[in-house]
Amino acid sequence: MKIKSAAFVISNSDVERCPKGKIPEYAFIGRSNVGKSSLINMLTSKKSLAKTSGRPGKTQLINHFIINQEWYLVDLPGYGYAKVSKSAKKVFQKFITQYFKFREQLVCAFVLVDIRHKPQPIDLEFMQYLGENGVPFCIIFTKADKLKPQAIENHVEDYKTVLLETWEDMPQYFITSSSKDIGKEEVLDFIGELNSN
Ligand code: GTP
Ligand code: MG
Repeated sequence: MKIKSAAFVISNSDVERCPKGKIPEYAFIGRSNVGKSSLINMLTSKKSLAKTSGRPGKTQLINHFIINQEWYLVDLPGYGYAKVSKSAKKVFQKFITQYFKFREQLVCAFVLVDIRHKPQPIDLEFMQYLGENGVPFCIIFTKADKLKPQAIENHVEDYKTVLLETWEDMPQYFITSSSKDIGKEEVLDFIGELNSN
């Protein structure tokens, strides 16, 4: 699928104030600093559409971007960032969980995980949470430019082993690098297919 237009629409801390209507949307979630905002910029070929930072905790709200006037990409704050205050963390966590519980327009969530790390409990727990709430999700491995192909394969295998202990199948997954433009067509074509269903 080709992206012809991409524009910021609105930021919210309350799922009830997110755009109304029936436009389908796709959300990016994962630990702080995993590369959610960078991935949105890579997919849309717009360097600074979503704000990115080397410091975790950059994205703090639910951000809607309208693509081709037809569907939304949604950038979310990361979970699991130790350095924000406990009360700030609670607020984030509340609106993130509410977003996934109540956002009917959400077609599919993309759970981003850093390809360099072994499966982490916080990510596995989040996938469990999505499963329990009936939210379809895929996995996006990020920062593939940081590893050699063999190491990438090994890390994906580690994930498969762990996930197949609780899930019947390995969720659909994508290997990406926002700095090297890897995985862009695959993710966009996948969204395109879901949009046409
Ligand atoms: P929060 O908004 O804080 O939750 O973070 P985020 O998940 O949106 O991460 P962001 O896109 O801001 O990127 C975090 C850091 O990782 C930045 O320094 C990016 O340049 C870097 N980064 C993101 N994607 C990649 C990638 O594919 N490869 C490499 N090498 N670095 C990346
Ligand atoms: Mg971000």
